[in-house]
Amino acid sequence: MQFGSDSKMLFNLLRRTFSHEILPAIRHYSSTAPIVTSGSEQVLELLSEIYTRGKDYGFHTDYFKNLQQENIIVEYSSPNIAKMFHVGHYRSTVVGNVISGILSAAGHNVCKMNYLGDWGVQFALLALSYKKYGNPTALKEKPLFHLYELYVKISKEAEENLQIKEEAQEVFLDMENGNADALQFWKCCRELSISEYKKLYHSIGVEFDVFSGESMYIDKSREVLEILKEKDLLYWDNGALKINLAGSKWLSKSPQIYQHPVLARKNGTSLYLTRDVAAAIDRFNDYKFDRMIYVTDISQAEHFNQIFAILEKMGFPWADKNTEMLMHVGFGRIHKMQTRKGNMTFLHDLLEDAYQKAHEDRLYCKTRKMPLTPKDDVTKIVALSGLIYHDLKARLSKGYNFNLEAALASKGSSGLFLQATHCRLCSLEANAGVHCIPQVDVDRILSEPSLVELIEHLNKYTTMTKTLYETLEPCILLRYLFDLCHLTAKALIPCTVKGADIADAQARLLCFYCAKTILGNGLRLMGVPPLVKM
Ligand code: ARG
Repeated sequence: MQFGSDSKMLFNLLRRTFSHEILPAIRHYSSTAPIVTSGSEQVLELLSEIYTRGKDYGFHTDYFKNLQQENIIVEYSSPNIAKMFHVGHYRSTVVGNVISGILSAAGHNVCKMNYLGDWGVQFALLALSYKKYGNPTALKEKPLFHLYELYVKISKEAEENLQIKEEAQEVFLDMENGNADALQFWKCCRELSISEYKKLYHSIGVEFDVFSGESMYIDKSREVLEILKEKDLLYWDNGALKINLAGSKWLSKSPQIYQHPVLARKNGTSLYLTRDVAAAIDRFNDYKFDRMIYVTDISQAEHFNQIFAILEKMGFPWADKNTEMLMHVGFGRIHKMQTRKGNMTFLHDLLEDAYQKAHEDRLYCKTRKMPLTPKDDVTKIVALSGLIYHDLKARLSKGYNFNLEAALASKGSSGLFLQATHCRLCSLEANAGVHCIPQVDVDRILSEPSLVELIEHLNKYTTMTKTLYETLEPCILLRYLFDLCHLTAKALIPCTVKGADIADAQARLLCFYCAKTILGNGLRLMGVPPLVKM
């Protein structure tokens, strides 16, 4: 087997350490040896390497070249059709996207997968609701909204009316048995929702390679039950079919209640957990993954431990905990997420609010360089940069209070500060009056303490990317970029380019050009395109 490499072990060890403890690693890369003391040749070499590699700078080092290329599935976002796109789905989308980006940049073959909650009794309820209150035009025009509306209505009714619940169970049983009529409506909901989600994801720069879903694993979860029965691993308890997972390494730290999960109901309909087990097996068969990473809210941690423990019991070598091929990245909760319409129900509302806020701010911004047009792309990127930075700036296991004002603040630790610095550097280059060249008089740099500080920071980028890869903690990147912008601002005050003596101007411009290159690379890694003007 090609997994189990030392680097993977180290990777997981680091992840565990960093996610539990304070994060000294946030600036772990600070321990990089100073470059200035190694001599001016090294300084020039660093700058010309950044200059020539450009967009590729950061993951080009021997460390990354020597990694064994892996097939990695990253499963994230995974909303439930007809239900709310809640803050957990939002955070999973942001975090999963940046994690996939880091792994791809490191040279792995990444499959970005969305595992839709597209199955369950809710679809039977929905079908009943549609029969009573459905509106075909609304379904076509605003599918996510209409389905949600229908679902809320029928759920309320079902709470008071037992008959509806029973009817829904019957319809669901029909669906599970493959009844074409019962499945027709479900299929239509699924297709409309996926196409709607694709548009939304596209608007925030997120693309999936695969839209999978729970519905694909009805038959296969029956097969899972058969295998487990044959192995004599199941037992009946209070009308439910359970498995005993006591003793599994995956659950060694879990409370006892998680050690005997239910895998099937009396009427034989499938369950979330069983479908997940079937899906994992299927993915291994299809992709032969070396690693599979699930990104969800930390509250699902035990669910994933159960999946992994069941797979291990079934005897799959890749589910052995020591191989570290299965991994759940859990993140903390977002609190106080409110949109102008109230609690967040749809991703669209959050994006719209962020866009509006960014638009208003830009409207009154005195230093704005670009004309404002409705549905302006720059405003969209500004809003998105603010949201992503707000989400990723602390370590993942930490939750945070959502605050749109803070997310879109133009100063301090924010996404806008990064974009504004990038724009500032682009404009400096455009108005420098000299061309940026990689051969400069290094002494002109070394005599400026603020430039030396900046260069020392640039020199830490490749150590940072390594730590980032090993821990998958995006806050390490954000911290680095924030420091970079801060040091750039500090150096820009004494080290003017325009109007300076030509040798000074060229030396300074090269430093700022390299800062811009790295900042741009970092922003792309964070999931946003760097802006040139705003
Ligand atoms: N749809 C699920 C939810 O909203 C998340 C799915 C996570 N992935 C998984 N393989 N179970 O809670």
